[in-house]
Amino acid sequence: MSLKEAAERVAGEFEFDGEGVRKAVKEFLKEMDDGLQKDGTYMSQIPTYVTAVPNGTEKGLYMAVDLGGTNFRVCSINLHGDTTFSLTQSKTKIPKELMTAPTAQELFAFLAKQIEGFLKEHHNEHYEGHIRRHKHKTPNANPATDETEIFNLGFTFSFPVNQIGINRGLLMRWTKGFDIADAVGKDVCALLQTEIDRLHLPVRVAALVNDTVGTLMARSYTSPGKTGTLLGAIFGTGTNGAYVEKLSNVTKLTSNKEADGTYDNSTGEMIVNTEWGSFDNGLEVLPNTPYDVDLDKESVNPGIQMFEKRVSGMFLGEILRRAIVGLLKDKSVSLFGDSDSSVNDLHTTTNIAKDSALFKQWGLDTSFLSLASGDNSAGLKIIRQSLSKELSISSSSLEDAEAVKLIAAAVGRRAARLAAVAIGATVVQSGRLNSMEGKEGGELDERDVVDVGVDGSLVEFYPDFEAMMRGALREVPEIGEAGEKRIRIGIAKDGSGVGAALIALVASKELKVVEEESD
Ligand code: BGC
Repeated sequence: MSLKEAAERVAGEFEFDGEGVRKAVKEFLKEMDDGLQKDGTYMSQIPTYVTAVPNGTEKGLYMAVDLGGTNFRVCSINLHGDTTFSLTQSKTKIPKELMTAPTAQELFAFLAKQIEGFLKEHHNEHYEGHIRRHKHKTPNANPATDETEIFNLGFTFSFPVNQIGINRGLLMRWTKGFDIADAVGKDVCALLQTEIDRLHLPVRVAALVNDTVGTLMARSYTSPGKTGTLLGAIFGTGTNGAYVEKLSNVTKLTSNKEADGTYDNSTGEMIVNTEWGSFDNGLEVLPNTPYDVDLDKESVNPGIQMFEKRVSGMFLGEILRRAIVGLLKDKSVSLFGDSDSSVNDLHTTTNIAKDSALFKQWGLDTSFLSLASGDNSAGLKIIRQSLSKELSISSSSLEDAEAVKLIAAAVGRRAARLAAVAIGATVVQSGRLNSMEGKEGGELDERDVVDVGVDGSLVEFYPDFEAMMRGALREVPEIGEAGEKRIRIGIAKDGSGVGAALIALVASKELKVVEEESD
C-alpha cells in the first residue's frame, strides 16, 4: 500500500461524522440531566453557588491564584468598573514531582510560597505592613483595621471538586496527570489557607472557582452588549465547561445535606460546572480508535475523563504519536523509509534516532499537532524541521511529512467536532435559541446572541479550531445554520484570573453582610 493510502486509512479512523455528532449531542443532554439530579454520574454537574454573572460595573483590587494543568499563576486584578481591568501576574511551571507528591501539604506549601513571593514583589508595602503588625500584635488590636489589610483571594482550582460552599470544596478526583491520593476528599481551600497562614500572609481564600466558571464570569464582565454569557469553556491542557442553569433544574442541590445553603436565589439561576471531561465514560457514543484505547490503558486514570482524552491538549499529541508508531510498524508501508521521495536529498537517508521521543509515552507535544496541521510551507519544510527537532527524525521526505500532516489534521478535526458536541448540547439545554422561533429570516439583534467565552491553547492556537467546531454545530438539527450564526464565541484571555477576582468580590460582599448581621 502506498504511504498516502495508508495515511488516509489512519486519518479515516478519526472520522466523526454528522450522525456521530447528533447521537453524541443527544447523549450529552441526557447526561447533563442525570448530573443535575443526582451525584455519582459521569458528568458531575457541580453547583457552584454562584448565582449571577457580572455586568462590567464591578470595582476593586483582588487577588487570584490559578492551579491549572501546567502552570501556577498568581495575580492581582484591579477591576475598574467600566468593563476593563488591569492585571499583574506571575507564572511558575508546576514541578513534575509535586504533581504526584506523597502528600497534599507539599503541593500547597509550594503554592503558598509563590503567593508570598508575588506579594513581596508587587505589593511589598502591604506585605511588610502586615508582617510588622503581626509581630507586634497586641491583644486589643482592632480587628476592623486588620480586616481592610486582607486581600480577598479567588482560588481557581481546575479539577473536579464537590463544592459545598463559596469557599469550601472537597476534591473528587485528580485529572491531567496529577495524582496525590492524600488530597482526595479534602477541602482544597482549607489546605491552601493553612499554608498561607503558616507564612502569615495577609490573604483570605474567599472563593473557590473552577477555571471554566472564571472564564464565564470574565467573559460576562468584558463581553460586548447586554446579553449575559451562557457558557465558559476551556479547551487547553484539559477540557470542561460551566454554564448558567435554571436553579429549579438543579434538583440535587436541595437534597445535598452537606451544602450550607448560603446562596442568593433571587436570580433563579446558578452556574453549574459540568465537568464534561468525563462525558460518556461508558463509551456509548464517543469514537474509539485503537490509539484511544491504548492511551487510556496506560494513563494514570484509566476509564475516566474519556471525552477529555479525545479533545484536550494533554492528549492529542499522544494520540498522534501512537497513530504514527502504528503506521511505522506496518511493514507494507514505507514511512520514514526513504524509498519513494522525489524531493528528498538523494545523498542522505532518513534516520530515526534510537532514543527518539516518538517511542516515549507523552513524547509528542500537542503544539506539534497545531504546527503540522497549519504547515502550508513549500515542501512542508516546517513539519520536516520539527520532526527533526522534536523527534530526532532526520531527513524525512515530503511524503513522510504529508502523511504526518494528514493524520495530525484528522486528530485535530475530530477534537474540534467533539468540542462542538459539548458547546452545542449546552446551547440546546439552555433553550436560548428558542427565543427566535417564528423569527426565521428576521433581523438579529443583540438579545438573540448566545454568548460563549472560551480559553485554552487549543482554541487559541490550533488552526481553524473554531471554524471546524462551527461546521459541526450546523449539523445539529436543533441549531442548524440559523442557530450557529447566533452563537458568538470569544476568547476570554486570562479569564480564570479575572473571573476568580470577580467571584472573590461577590463572596467578600456576602461575607460582610453576614458579619454585619451577626454584629
Ligand atoms: C478538570 C476541570 C477543568 C478542565 C480545564 C479538567 O481536567 O477536570 O475541572 O476545568 O480540566 O482546565
